[in-house]
Amino acid sequence: MDKPNAITRTGFTLNGRAVSVDADPGERLSQSLRERLDARDVKIGCNAGDCGACTVLVDGAPVCACLMPTAQAEGVQVETVKGVVASDEGQRLVQAFQAHQAAQCGICTPGMMVSAVALLRAQARPGVAEIEDALGGVLCRCTGYRKIVDAVAAAGLGDVTPAPASGAVGTPLMRLDGQPKVDGRERFGDDVAPEGALVLRVIRSPHFHARFTLGDLDGFRAAHPWVRLVLTAADVPGRNNYGVIPGFEDQAVFGEGYVRFRGEAVAAIVGPADEMARFDPAEFPVTWEDLPPVLTVDEAMAEGAPQLHEGHAQNVMTGGFVKHGEAEAALARADVVVEGDFATSFVEHAYIEPEAGFAEMVDGRLHMHACTQAPVMDQEMLAGALAMPMDRIRIVPTATGGGFGSKLDVSVQPYLALAALKLGQPVRMAYSRIESMQSTTKRHPAQISLAVGATRDGVISGMRFEGLFNTGAYASWGPTVANRVPIHASGPYRVRDYLARAQGIYTNGPPAGAFRGFGVPQSAIAAELLLDELAEKLGMDALEFRLKNALTNGEPTVCGQVFEKGVGIGACLEALRPHWQALGAECAAFNRNGGVLRRGVGIGAGWYGCGNTSLPNPSTIKAGLRADGTVVLHQGAADIGQGSNTVITQIFAQALGVDPAGIRLVGGDTDVTPDAGKTSASRQTFVTGNAARLAGLALRRQVLALVNAPEDAVLRLGEGACVEDGGGRHALRLEQMDQDGEGYVLRVAETYDPPTEPLDENGQGVPYAQFGYAAHLAMVEVDTALGTTRVLRLVAAHDVGQAINPLLVEGQVQGGVAQGLGMALMEEFLPGRTENLHDYLIPTFGDVPPIDTLIIEEEDAHGPYGAKGLGEHALIPTAPAILNAITRATGARLRQVPVTPARLRAALKAAGHG
Ligand code: FES
Ligand code: FES
Repeated sequence: MDKPNAITRTGFTLNGRAVSVDADPGERLSQSLRERLDARDVKIGCNAGDCGACTVLVDGAPVCACLMPTAQAEGVQVETVKGVVASDEGQRLVQAFQAHQAAQCGICTPGMMVSAVALLRAQARPGVAEIEDALGGVLCRCTGYRKIVDAVAAAGLGDVTPAPASGAVGTPLMRLDGQPKVDGRERFGDDVAPEGALVLRVIRSPHFHARFTLGDLDGFRAAHPWVRLVLTAADVPGRNNYGVIPGFEDQAVFGEGYVRFRGEAVAAIVGPADEMARFDPAEFPVTWEDLPPVLTVDEAMAEGAPQLHEGHAQNVMTGGFVKHGEAEAALARADVVVEGDFATSFVEHAYIEPEAGFAEMVDGRLHMHACTQAPVMDQEMLAGALAMPMDRIRIVPTATGGGFGSKLDVSVQPYLALAALKLGQPVRMAYSRIESMQSTTKRHPAQISLAVGATRDGVISGMRFEGLFNTGAYASWGPTVANRVPIHASGPYRVRDYLARAQGIYTNGPPAGAFRGFGVPQSAIAAELLLDELAEKLGMDALEFRLKNALTNGEPTVCGQVFEKGVGIGACLEALRPHWQALGAECAAFNRNGGVLRRGVGIGAGWYGCGNTSLPNPSTIKAGLRADGTVVLHQGAADIGQGSNTVITQIFAQALGVDPAGIRLVGGDTDVTPDAGKTSASRQTFVTGNAARLAGLALRRQVLALVNAPEDAVLRLGEGACVEDGGGRHALRLEQMDQDGEGYVLRVAETYDPPTEPLDENGQGVPYAQFGYAAHLAMVEVDTALGTTRVLRLVAAHDVGQAINPLLVEGQVQGGVAQGLGMALMEEFLPGRTENLHDYLIPTFGDVPPIDTLIIEEEDAHGPYGAKGLGEHALIPTAPAILNAITRATGARLRQVPVTPARLRAALKAAGHG
């Protein structure tokens, strides 16, 4: 039965304007602001007081609007980011956030901005501790917080002028799409639906493994006459099964009488917003028959375990394999061998924006507006589910409030599409935080066994790796993880005798998919911890041992691939040397004081192959020149905060020979931007960047040809378009040229696909055209009585080939490092137990220490202007560096992440600490 409803009217001031709203009793202020007063600059990340995204000022004080009932707002003054940016403090913060690139995806930025305004009003020149304290209730998953602290401090000092930047490759151009992120105008997945759009809600399994029967749907509709649509598997006109990897389309849009994980969709209902807000999904008629679940790989592989997918005995989804030389013989010959078993957990992406969007039918075509990392993959999936040609589906990505891999998979899209198609009306939905955490992909938990041998003089002489990766109920990107890990598990070292196997195992956990590194961060923990042990046994310095074994130009990787240039791991490790020595000495001096607090410094290293593994991976960029001289760049790579809109424009502008400020960017719409591939695997700067470079060069050639100018002529586009060369100034007379259907007098479209080759049966070949390299150093302080760890300092050296935009490089590195810190010390997703941002902890302001970013530029043979991808290797070395630092501080050997106080206390005890 529907609940009774007693509306109350509340009057208050919103950004200086008197307003009144009629709200349900108990309605959250955030809801009233967004839905009744169109204040969509107030963001919702959790609706539980955990993330701070909804922070507004109430009578000048920061308040979580999701925790305040609207009825309590009677007579108060409410300010949102759109209100405060007009103030003097707000203006300085806008400029400082832009200058420091303190907003990446921007979803946390409204909460940060209003909190910072309140601080600056109370304290003109706050220090770091005061800033961390004042903004500490707002979570950011992208930046690692340090740039935000810098920006607020700079705003306090009035030092808000950005570093001068021409925009040329190598300069710190301000984010081209940054202004709306900092002034509240950015529109994310839940901000774009038209007024009156119907609301969809998915009915999900509360069980890990169950059979189910849908009940009396006609009776349900009769009891809820406002329900406009009920959707089940029977309503899917095309394929009910989907997946991101061909051959692994094993996930259902709606379960058909059977579910394999807690959170799996079985039905959906659609209705008007107010009724849907009051609806209790427990009223939906479904009967469950609980089945015994298998939640770990051991349970799933045990004899007699239920087989979750036909044709996958022992629940083995698939595997990957690399063999180079004779690992066993080399290990047998080695003077020293170290071995270990390691375990990692499910890790939640915890972007602050839950999945959201809306769909509508326009002239018989489906238009999908949602946050995403992969617009064309979304289009392909929907074409299959709807049995509709691709050209009848238009994907218009909204701003995406963080993704980190999870928004490569569809979430809200098939449900919204089915509903819009059936009803012919706009339909919207936003996942709740719990729904997002239950149903979307995670980082794979791994069980790893590793053995590494070395000769007495410190040369690695054999490595054997076995990894089981819990891929959860469905494959998602599990096959990619299984293939990628064996290629990377050696780390960026010279390992001539190597054997690595990885398998993905189905369980009744949430689907595990892509998450910054695709399994490589897990394998790096095992390798880097054992390398430290090996160095210790050999009596060698951990840095020198790594340097002695670091891969160099001209040497084969474990896949037999040889890079003649651009192998930057040695340079990354060398860059750490002064910090290693200085911080090591500092820790030694501290530890001489005795006591329960111990300090240590540790190193971790990593590498990452950019782009798809031995598979086609093209990106296309289109550009055109208008009769008025305007250059238009059609850039379809999803910028989820990493900065591809800016970087790709810089590359294109450099190739064309103009200033990026003059380029008009058209982005994110499958009707007008060609396929730039997915934003994943550190591929956009490299692959789409190369397509942009080729497009810029092609357009330049066409322009020069108009006046027969030489290659080194100078282009002046925009008003008065001309070319200058030794012969003088030549007007282009574009207005006299024919225009095509899009209004272009010249147009280009260029595609780049990295030169890779298939791997043979031993995993030998050319899996990637380039690798990025990284080495991190962490200094920690361990409380040996409590088992707690504080990271005091991080130094991150990254070889990016050529930093197209050094400020964006720093942002990517610092954000990745913060996620690596979380993986090391606190992040553990336990299905059914940590499905919110209260129980699932991610780093906050106080957890992330100062980070020194050292940019290394070992030019790549294929990257645009020598650039390499960066997104994934930003995170890979952090956790091993922290764990190695803990070991050096205390002697405790660690085998499992996160290193919670309980786990650390056990390891400390084993190491002889009381
Ligand atoms: Fe209010 Fe997260 S949405 S604290
Ligand atoms: Fe803070 Fe993305 S910029 S969550």
